[in-house]
Amino acid sequence: MPMLTIKPSGKTVQSAEGMSILEALLAAGEPIMHKCDGKAECGSCHIFINEGRKTLSKIQRSENERLDAIVGVSSQSRLACQAKLGNEDVTVELLS
Ligand code: FES
Repeated sequence: MPMLTIKPSGKTVQSAEGMSILEALLAAGEPIMHKCDGKAECGSCHIFINEGRKTLSKIQRSENERLDAIVGVSSQSRLACQAKLGNEDVTVELLS
C-alpha cells in the first residue's frame, strides 16, 4: 500500500494502488479543486509530484493536452485526477 505525503501540509496518508491522487487527497480531507470531477477537462487539479513519479500511471493523451494548456507546468506536473498510484510511496505538492 503506497503512502502519500502531501505538501505543504506535511500530512501522510495510506492509500491504495490504482486510486487516483485526487481520490486519495479527497479521502484524506485535503482541499483540492476538481471542477470537472476528474475528466481531465479543467486542469484545476494540477499538482507537482516531488517524489515517486515513476510509480504513477503513465500520462495519457487527454492529460497531456490539458497540461499543455496550463501556465506554470513543469516536468513534475500531473493532473491529480489522472495520475493513479502504483505500489510505491509518492510525495505531492498542492498548488491551491
Ligand atoms: S478535475 Fe478537472 S482536470 Fe482533474
